[in-house]
Amino acid sequence: MNILAEIRSRFEPVLTEWTDDPSSVIEMLKASQDAKFGDYQANFAMPLAARIPDLKPRDLATQIVEKVDLSDFCEPLEVAGPGFINIKLKQEWLNTQTQNLVADERLGVVPAESPQKVVVDFSAPNVAKPMHVGHLRSTVIGDANYRVLKFLGHDVVGDNHIGDWGTQFGMIIFGYKHFLNEAAFDEAPVTELARLYRLVNQLSDYHATKETLPQRENDIEQLEAKLKSLESSADQTDKKIQKQEKKLKSDIAERKSDVRSMQEKLTELEQNEDLHSKAVAFPDIARQARDETANLHAGDAENLALWNQFLPACLEAIQNVYDRLDIHFDMALGESYYHPMLADVVESLKQKGLAKESQGAICVFIDGFKAPFIVQKQDGAFTYATTDLATIKYRAEELKADRVLYVVDSRQSEHFQLLFATVNEWGFQNLELQHVSFGSVLGKDGKPLKTRAGDNVGLESLLDESIQRAYAIIAENDDAKPEGPELSEDRRQEIAKIIGLGGIKYADLKHNRDSDYMFDWDKMLANRGDTATYMQYAYARVCGIFRKGEIDRVTLRENQSALKLQDETERALALQINRYSETLESVAIEARPNYLTNYLFELSNLFSTFYNQCPVLKAEEEQVKSSRLLLCDLTARVIDNGLSLLGIRTCERM
Ligand code: ARG
Repeated sequence: MNILAEIRSRFEPVLTEWTDDPSSVIEMLKASQDAKFGDYQANFAMPLAARIPDLKPRDLATQIVEKVDLSDFCEPLEVAGPGFINIKLKQEWLNTQTQNLVADERLGVVPAESPQKVVVDFSAPNVAKPMHVGHLRSTVIGDANYRVLKFLGHDVVGDNHIGDWGTQFGMIIFGYKHFLNEAAFDEAPVTELARLYRLVNQLSDYHATKETLPQRENDIEQLEAKLKSLESSADQTDKKIQKQEKKLKSDIAERKSDVRSMQEKLTELEQNEDLHSKAVAFPDIARQARDETANLHAGDAENLALWNQFLPACLEAIQNVYDRLDIHFDMALGESYYHPMLADVVESLKQKGLAKESQGAICVFIDGFKAPFIVQKQDGAFTYATTDLATIKYRAEELKADRVLYVVDSRQSEHFQLLFATVNEWGFQNLELQHVSFGSVLGKDGKPLKTRAGDNVGLESLLDESIQRAYAIIAENDDAKPEGPELSEDRRQEIAKIIGLGGIKYADLKHNRDSDYMFDWDKMLANRGDTATYMQYAYARVCGIFRKGEIDRVTLRENQSALKLQDETERALALQINRYSETLESVAIEARPNYLTNYLFELSNLFSTFYNQCPVLKAEEEQVKSSRLLLCDLTARVIDNGLSLLGIRTCERM
């Protein structure tokens, strides 16, 4: 049962007496931070009373309490302090409710009342380059949302909107035509394609840098002149002038350092004879690569054949990563799939008067945005935006979606704002579109995580390292067991995978997705604190209790022995178990898996407190023992289920 939703639904109709829109304040009723204030607490009397003359919040709270009936499952409501309403569940009710969970496979999680068709657009790497750490977040956050929505009974479609049609293919095609190492390609096609991509990118960068450098130097000279004239003519005691000069100086210093690193990059390339001769031979490489993309899009037979040759290898490479991460999609319609629909999209936008020509390009202008939404460029090429519009039309009309989640980096938030605003005018008003945005993964220096050589960290090597580190910890723990090691080599390796991958996923999911987070191996694999390992240990510990007591968990459940919550720690644990349903609901609404990680962390903590306080196998009475065992079993089931919804596995022994 979703207890929070039930309590809220009892308050909402009562609140209409004081507000037209109770839903706007109902979220102020939530789980209490502190058991002192009951199990749930409502704070809305304060803002509601503030709108009504001569009404004290405390009096309003008292009036609300008189009208709300929760007597079937709550103690009489209490008004506290300036007008807080404290709500405490009846002990007997909580007891029965928890008892009911024993035989409930869904652990009290109620399926959605009106299931929706939800498309989760996640991972979506631009293929032809190996997946790197930047792809981790979309993949892991998307997968967790996918799993939670599905468990809640929605009809969920996981769609990998692969970048298989973009400019990187033009670069690779160009690279293939001019710089291919055939033997390397035969041996490992994706590695060779990635090398070609990097090479073409590097050469284009070289020319672009070379071209802009004089302008940059010129800008600095002008700023320096401005500074000089300020220093010689203006009143140097004037605070404003001082501030201006200071700002100019730091600006100049920053630009100089940029110019220096640009120069270094140029010199580095020039010192490499091979690279330099290639750069000299292809002064116009960026345009040439763009032309290759344009030819591909125009249906050029040679380029299409190359694209068809490259794509399977690229897809196979990303599939390897998904297999390791246990990530699955229901469909993977890449950008190329929508290519044939793009001209019609632009036509339809024009017909509706939404898209207009501007400086040769076709654009949608949205009020409140400086940047236009460009759907066709001057040279006739369609864009990322056009593809996304076609994708929405497809998802609405063919997939009959009610809701689409885009699990994409926050740096694309303007794109999605423009996209959603355009769609809103274009049609599809009933489709709920949500950008599930996320921040970056940072290194210890606070900058986006890179290898020492400055490259993106490959996702595969990251997974390898995590598993290796987990293995070392497991081996050390196992070797240190008082009765000697318990785990075979195979088991150690299997557990290392579970812990290593779980650690990476959890570390990513536990943060508020909007913020950046710092990647830290030690914190991530620690067996204490807010980590997957901590919860996996709690799970294994319960399994250990049952092993030691030689009790079968399933038989225990089937015996239907009576549960009795006597100790405060038992009650707190049971209450948390009963909050599983409302937690998943909140994850689903906001697409925030960190609500679930918070919940599981709290659950594991409460379990640990309970376990320290209440003997289980050594409980004095048989009845108390079986009641506590049931509570242990329920805890383990919720941990196992909760972690599985995050894409994380558990093991019975660690
Ligand atoms: N391939 C894109 C990128 O790497 C992400 C695509 C996200 N999905 C979408 N429908 N735009 O930036």
